[in-house]
Amino acid sequence: MKVDGKNMRPIWYDPADDRVRVIDQRKLPHNLVEKTLDNLDDVVAAISDMVVRGAPLIGVTGAYGLFIAARNAGARASDNSVLIHAAEVLRTVRPTATNLCWAVDRVLGVILGCDTATQRIIAAREKAGEIAELEVENSRQIGVHGLPIIEEIAAARQGEPVNILTHCNAGWLAAIEYGTALAPIYAAFEKNISVHVWVDETRPLNQGSRLTAWELLQAGVPHTVIADNAGGHLMQHGMVDLVIVGSDRTTASGDVANKIGTYLKALAAHDNKVPFYVALPSSTIDWDITDGFTQIPIEERDPDELRYMPGGQRSVNTILTPESSPAANFAFDVTPARLVTGLITEKGVCRANADDIRKMFERV
Ligand code: MRU
Repeated sequence: MKVDGKNMRPIWYDPADDRVRVIDQRKLPHNLVEKTLDNLDDVVAAISDMVVRGAPLIGVTGAYGLFIAARNAGARASDNSVLIHAAEVLRTVRPTATNLCWAVDRVLGVILGCDTATQRIIAAREKAGEIAELEVENSRQIGVHGLPIIEEIAAARQGEPVNILTHCNAGWLAAIEYGTALAPIYAAFEKNISVHVWVDETRPLNQGSRLTAWELLQAGVPHTVIADNAGGHLMQHGMVDLVIVGSDRTTASGDVANKIGTYLKALAAHDNKVPFYVALPSSTIDWDITDGFTQIPIEERDPDELRYMPGGQRSVNTILTPESSPAANFAFDVTPARLVTGLITEKGVCRANADDIRKMFERV
C-alpha cells in the first residue's frame, strides 16, 4: 500500500543484501522506521515486542525467521535438529494467532524435504515469500467478497456514508497488503462508495488509534477515532451500520479470538441488531479445535503495557496507575460463533458454523 506515494509492505526481503526488513510498528504513527532482522533473536524479539503484529504478518515473519535461522546456520542447515529447534522457538513466541505455527510448519515441511544446506536456505526464502504472496491474495479476495456487504448497506443508505466500526488494526500493516477487516472497506472506498470508519482506540497498545487511523489517513478514508468503550453507545444511537473485525484464531466451528474487547463489541452489536462480520484468511482457522472458549490459548502480556502510556513523539513513558496497583493484561478474547453474522474469507462469505465453514473450504 502507498505511504506518501511510495509502495510499502510491513515486511520485505531485500535481495541487495540478503536481508529481511520490517516496519517498526511501535514507532507509528509519528515515525516510519525500518528495522533489519539479522538473526533468530531479532525475529523473536520483533514478534514478541510487537515491532510486527497482526495474525497474517506474524505468520509471514515467522516464516522468514526460519529462513534467517537457516541462512545463518550455513552448512549446519543440513542438520535437521538445527531447523527443528529454530521452528520450535518461533512457534511459541505469541500463542494466540495460529498463523505463526501454520506458516513456520509450512516452511519447515518444505525445507526438511531438501537434501543440502544450500537447497534448504533457498527453499526457506522462497517458501516465506510464497506465504507472503498468498496472504496478499487472500486479503485481496477478502476485499472482493466483503465488498457486496458494504454495497448492500450503501444502497439502503441512499448516499449517506456507511458507518463501519472496527477494532484493533486489521489492515495492511497486519496482513502485508489490503488487510482483513479493512480490505472490504478499501475496496468500497476505491469504488467511490461513501464510507466512514469508527476506529476503536484499542487499549492498551492502541493499534486502532495509532495504526488503523494512520493507515486510513494515508489512504484518504474518512474515519474517527473513538474510545474503546464508545461503540455500544454509538450502536444504540444508530450510528454504526456494520462491524468488521479481524481474527487471530478461528475454530472449525466459527468461534473467533481477536484483540481484547472484540467480544464486548459483538455483544453490543447483537443487542442493537448491527451486523457483526469477521474477516479472516484461512491461515487463521485452527481446524483441530471446535470450542474457542476452552481451546484457544489467550496471551497474557506484560502488565506494564497497561500501567504505562508511551509518550508518543517525546517517548517518555507516563505511569497511569498508582505505582503499586497490580494490573492484568489479557491480549485477546473469544467471540462465540452465535454472535457472528458471517465470516468473510478468501473463498467467500459463510455463516460461522462448522458445516458452512467446512463446505466453504471443501473439507469433508
Ligand atoms: O496483538 P496484535 O496487534 O497482534 O493483535 C492483532 C489483532 O487482534 C488483529 O485484529 C488480528 O490479528 C487480525 S489481523 C489481520
